[in-house]
Amino acid sequence: MSQTASPHKPFFYAFALLKRLFYKRLIYKEDTMPQDSIRRSQRLNQITHGPHEQLDKAVKANAPFETLASYTRFLSAQYLFQQELKVLYNDPRLSALIADLPERCRAEQAKADLKDLGTVIPAPVTGGVDAPSQAEALGWLFVSEGSKLGAAFLIKRAQALNLSETFGARHLGEPVGGRAEGWKRFIRILDDLPLSEAQEREIDQGAVAAFERFNVLLEHAYASAQQAEPA
Ligand code: HEM
Repeated sequence: MSQTASPHKPFFYAFALLKRLFYKRLIYKEDTMPQDSIRRSQRLNQITHGPHEQLDKAVKANAPFETLASYTRFLSAQYLFQQELKVLYNDPRLSALIADLPERCRAEQAKADLKDLGTVIPAPVTGGVDAPSQAEALGWLFVSEGSKLGAAFLIKRAQALNLSETFGARHLGEPVGGRAEGWKRFIRILDDLPLSEAQEREIDQGAVAAFERFNVLLEHAYASAQQAEPA
């Protein structure tokens, strides 16, 4: 069903706005800082607002929760993204900064989801993150960790396909210790790191590159599916 034709569109957007405000409040509850001293995580949030909106639309345009076939393609993109980031989640230089970093990676959950659905594990796609600087890597991780917030909404939709955090949608499940808590711990560490001006630019670049990469993987997942299943 096309979302553009829906009579509920104004309500949908109003609801999305409310959700965003709710999460901003949850994340930045104690924030009273003026614009010129915003936190690093807030700056990242601001500069990735456009890419996030665009990706949100791209995900929804493929209606991943309407059919299991479409969901499987979305899952393939999620798996490839997490698989590419595995090297960062397991980088000892980064886990020296974020102690529980390896446990935060969702590559294994996404792989188990693919197995639950009897889907082949997709082959790697060229152009993944390659030897980023430490600050750039943190930008990529910011996006991957942030995507767990949206996952709270996505897993509810996945229930319509009889998927759950124990079958097929494990990678969207609540992280150990809680979704909001895990995110807050992550950004607290991120915000407190001493970074040079050059590193501030690198972290921004990493975050933007991560959104671009997810887009590529999403397009790949749906394009290769079309080839495999001609209409
Ligand atoms: C690969 C990266 C990401 C993907 C694929 C992604 C995808 C999505 C999607 C599809 C939604 C809509 C959920 C719904 O309305 O049912 C959403 C919502 C959300 N996402 Fe993301 N997201 C990503 C990264 C991030 C990041 C980095 C943050 C925070 C820094 C974030 C925060 C949120 C929040 C708070 C929501 C709920 C409110 C809203 O709809 O704006 N996401 N995300």
